[in-house]
Amino acid sequence: MSDWKDKTAVICGGSSGLGLHLATELVRQGCKQVVLIGRDETKLSQAVDSLRSVALTVSSKTLVRTISGDLSNVDQAANCAKTLSQIAPSVDLIIQAIGVSDRGTLASLTRERLHELVDANVVTSLHAIQHFSSMLAASRGVMVLVGSLSSLFAPRFLGGYSIAKHGLAALAQQARLEYSESGMHVMLCCPGPIARDDAGKRYEQRVSSDGNLPAEALQPGGGAKIKGLNPSELAQQILRSASRRKELLILPRKAWWLRLVTAISQRLGDRILRSKSS
Ligand SMILES: NC(=O)c1ccc[n+]([C@@H]2O[C@H](COP(=O)([O-])OP(=O)(O)OC[C@H]3O[C@@H](n4cnc5c(N)ncnc54)[C@H](OP(=O)(O)O)[C@@H]3O)[C@@H](O)[C@H]2O)c1
Repeated sequence: MSDWKDKTAVICGGSSGLGLHLATELVRQGCKQVVLIGRDETKLSQAVDSLRSVALTVSSKTLVRTISGDLSNVDQAANCAKTLSQIAPSVDLIIQAIGVSDRGTLASLTRERLHELVDANVVTSLHAIQHFSSMLAASRGVMVLVGSLSSLFAPRFLGGYSIAKHGLAALAQQARLEYSESGMHVMLCCPGPIARDDAGKRYEQRVSSDGNLPAEALQPGGGAKIKGLNPSELAQQILRSASRRKELLILPRKAWWLRLVTAISQRLGDRILRSKSS
């Protein structure tokens, strides 16, 4: 349970959701320093308060720092990297957990919305690799890119999310191959829907603006018939896999079967995907 004890970790998108769960787990494991990156300073300082109270509860001495910036913007990403090199001379782990999901049919997907999704899910990761990789190369560290089951499959009604997350999967593989000699390892993590308090309510606006969308598409994973992953357990599994320098983490594990079936028969894969989603 102490894979990252006394290490320094950076969580891009660490002020809420999965990123905050990962930061919480790192504090529990006795990480030396955790740096959160996000755009909204109020959210960042609320996250710091919550992490400090976790640290007190588990008697952890983790130092929590924040850097505010928009990683989809190249200049702000460069500024984040500059600040990071000043506050953390050595970095062991960077988790890029920034991402935005979507709901909608292809019939109503606009070029503008697709660009927003690619910026949020792919360009942020590209900038993280370009600006932070030298720090990880120096420490032979790990970069985790948070994808989704939508990096592997493209069910109906997820707007432009699967298109963007497939792009992220390609980015992860290319980065792993191009940077392997540098010492930095790249892992892609593909979780299914994650249990959260606002599940089922986050996409109401997108559903109401797309007349062709069934109400089930509001649900996590666009109505995927799988139980939401426990975010704390997911965070522990991501950190364990990163410490073992795995290439790919897919959860729930049964999604491996659909991947295998689809590789053998696209028709059967499509049929299963149709029956397991809204
Ligand atoms: N939620 C799920 O069920 C689920 C399932 C599978 C995969 N995922 C993936 O897991 C990751 C986390 O998802 P989540 O739902 O937990 O996210 P979330 O709660 O919406 O949190 C996103 C985080 O990223 C930050 N952020 C967003 N855009 C940013 C930008 N351009 N630059 C810097 N920071 C930015 C946000 O803070 P600010 O807004 O203040 O910047 C926040 O800290 C995403 O990649 C998502 O696709 C989620």
